[in-house]
Amino acid sequence: MAERVVPARVLAAERIASEAGFKKSCIPEVGRLLRLAAASKPHGVVAESGTGTGVGTAWLHSGLGAGARLLTVERDEELARRAAAVFADDERVGVLTGDWRLLERHAPFDVFFCDGGGKRDDAQRVVELLAPGGLLILDDFTPSPHWPPRFEGEVDELRLFYLTHPALNATEVLTTPTSSAVVAARRPDAT
Ligand SMILES: C[S@@+](CC[C@H](N)C(=O)[O-])C[C@H]1O[C@@H](n2cnc3c(N)ncnc32)[C@H](O)[C@@H]1O
Repeated sequence: MAERVVPARVLAAERIASEAGFKKSCIPEVGRLLRLAAASKPHGVVAESGTGTGVGTAWLHSGLGAGARLLTVERDEELARRAAAVFADDERVGVLTGDWRLLERHAPFDVFFCDGGGKRDDAQRVVELLAPGGLLILDDFTPSPHWPPRFEGEVDELRLFYLTHPALNATEVLTTPTSSAVVAARRPDAT
């Protein structure tokens, strides 16, 4: 069977991660979900909190429409600097250095991969930053056979928050047999 193609910028960002010893990049299964989400909003504002070395950014970029913009933010200056080099030739992409709240001035977001800052510390604000119909992607959950979902024996309140938020239509999808992502769309009628 032919191998699945991995975009060149993803490979470049993965090389930087390897050199830097950075081990928190998203997996290709999540990357393909990111690409799909970006491609669904060809004129949209696509945002990512927590750039890392740019692996998730590169997957988002691989689905980015000609009329779209991609903003990503990373608080680690060295990581941000190295990731920015991967996208230096594309003016649709902005790599910001600092806290995730720097993204707010670019809201509302048509796609938001919330992966470093926001997800845990201000989940309500994360939802508010979505445009009507805007897609939210959160990865790195552990599938649970229970409802409400449990993690390490306790109800996973954070996951529950997103899955049951009244402004969202949300679901959880397996990314591998042992990992999952929450995918949500902001309801167009949400206030
Ligand atoms: C899971 S890693 C990001 C991986 C990346 N999104 C990818 O898919 O390859 C999380 C990153 O978020 C950054 N981070 C954590 N809290 C942050 C904050 N409040 N503002 C900006 N970046 C943050 C960390 O430095 C780390 O590089």
